[in-house]
Amino acid sequence: MSAIDISNKQFKTLANLIYSESGIHIHDGKMELLKSKIAKRMRATRISSCSSYLEYLIDNKDEIIEFIDTVTTNHSFFFRENRSIENMIRFLTDRGSMTGKGNASFHGAVGNGVASSFKLWCAACSTGDEPYSVAIQLLERGLDFNILATDISHSVLNVAIKGIYSSERVKNVPVPLLHRYFQKGNGKQSGFVRVKKTVMEHVAFKKFNLVTDAVPQEQYDVVLCRNVMIYFDNATTENVINRLYHALKPGGLFIIGQAESLMNMKHNFKSLKNTPSTFQK
Ligand SMILES: C[S@@+](CC[C@H](N)C(=O)[O-])C[C@H]1O[C@@H](n2cnc3c(N)ncnc32)[C@H](O)[C@@H]1O
Repeated sequence: MSAIDISNKQFKTLANLIYSESGIHIHDGKMELLKSKIAKRMRATRISSCSSYLEYLIDNKDEIIEFIDTVTTNHSFFFRENRSIENMIRFLTDRGSMTGKGNASFHGAVGNGVASSFKLWCAACSTGDEPYSVAIQLLERGLDFNILATDISHSVLNVAIKGIYSSERVKNVPVPLLHRYFQKGNGKQSGFVRVKKTVMEHVAFKKFNLVTDAVPQEQYDVVLCRNVMIYFDNATTENVINRLYHALKPGGLFIIGQAESLMNMKHNFKSLKNTPSTFQK
């Protein structure tokens, strides 16, 4: 018998709690995973019995936040699935040039034809690898932009704000860009890189729950929501994509992960030719 022993009823209660708080669908095969998360939180809260921890958790808003934080999968790395980002930047570049601003340092926004900074929302940004990768490539093209980067997990946002990563995480970054946009750590920081301020100043991090929080009033040229809906069931995914639709300007782009699909979902996005992970409002 494992040190953590939960009944089927307790498992169901926890799975329902996780689902209602985050949209994350925990199926029956995840019992062992859930036990390891409970064990982690029992150590952190110094509660020695599993049943006492579960009693403590159920009515404690702060602990629910910590527990959900533990349950999230935050795997990410720089320049992940970068083809979609390259396509998106090509799209913005074309829109930018339509505003007549020339090639370098141009502005532009979809929809209204009025020159302004591009607004992007990276809606499940994890440790920041994704929004910083996007920012680096937008800077390379001389575009004027700002990125809102959000996640449900406060611990990943703390990592993102620091902007320090192991060299492993940046191994897909082309070497010239690595030199231009990162500082290499020395001494104790050897094996780590820090994202330069010129990149960081374009990205604002904020906690945001895709399932329960009201979408911002502001509308975006691009919304990225990649590699999070794989943890949601169809009902939650449909709800999330339709909420994010409202956060886009007309003509704006919605980008999902390569392993994700909008097939069999009711939505108003248009599919784009040759870009299976990119949709348009
Ligand atoms: C696997 S990471 C993907 C990170 C990045 N988008 C990428 O593609 O590399 C999934 C992220 O979704 C976040 N997440 C899970 N449920 C969420 C929710 N309901 N609202 C906002 N973020 C959520 C997790 O905290 C995690 O950081």
